[in-house]
Amino acid sequence: MIALPENTRLMDDAGATARAAAEHLITQVTSAEGERAAVCLSGGSTPKRLYALLASPGFVERVPWARVHWFFGDDRVVPWDDPLSNVRMVREAFGHAAPVPPTHLHFIPSDEGAEAGARAYEATLKDFYGAGKLDPARPLFDLVLLGLGSDGHTASLFPGKPAVDERAAWVAPVPEAGMEPFVPRISLTFPTLASARSVLFLVNGAGKRDPLQHLAAGEDLPASHATSAGTLTWFIDREAADA
Ligand code: 6PG
Repeated sequence: MIALPENTRLMDDAGATARAAAEHLITQVTSAEGERAAVCLSGGSTPKRLYALLASPGFVERVPWARVHWFFGDDRVVPWDDPLSNVRMVREAFGHAAPVPPTHLHFIPSDEGAEAGARAYEATLKDFYGAGKLDPARPLFDLVLLGLGSDGHTASLFPGKPAVDERAAWVAPVPEAGMEPFVPRISLTFPTLASARSVLFLVNGAGKRDPLQHLAAGEDLPASHATSAGTLTWFIDREAADA
């Protein structure tokens, strides 16, 4: 077994990590203070299973859909119906079974280009939060989901790209992605991703062994910059852990 990050829960397989993540998400959104809950979704392929599970019997009736607002940690600057779009991936995974009120799915605008889209999404987040400065004592999100790229990126914060070091803006344009798909991206920055009661990395499969080992060796990869105002946990399956 490879060395794993602190606060890792090792699980048998991708099904187990998805079920555990669904239970954690339900816990977070049902324990949210006030009338609303906010979840920041990750993109790529790993979380599809989780999103479909949330819309399936045994889970769909337990999610307080009328209270939850869904945001995106990043997206590709492509039309919303493009196969590369994270919005499209989420909508397809939720399907018609998840009763998400249309005004509760807060897409990242992808039709204005990376710069304007980042500015617009930052305004959306500030409007929802009700302030222009994040207060560690009042996290923006009840849960932030993150994935891990084979190069150690997370969201669309890639090694060597300026957005990794952005600490003032809540959302950053990423004109050049560091990994496929090589399309411009828009990404929340690390201070915004950290404004959470819980940050959860979902990591499955042998392809993640390499970045996990580099992280455990203390290498300065973007994912190592992820922090949380609350908890930060890794759900990793045995295949990724080589266990
Ligand atoms: C994206 C994601 C990205 C993803 C990792 C892992 O838009 O691609 O936000 O950060 O989480 O690249 O992707 P997989 O889950 O497809 O391995």
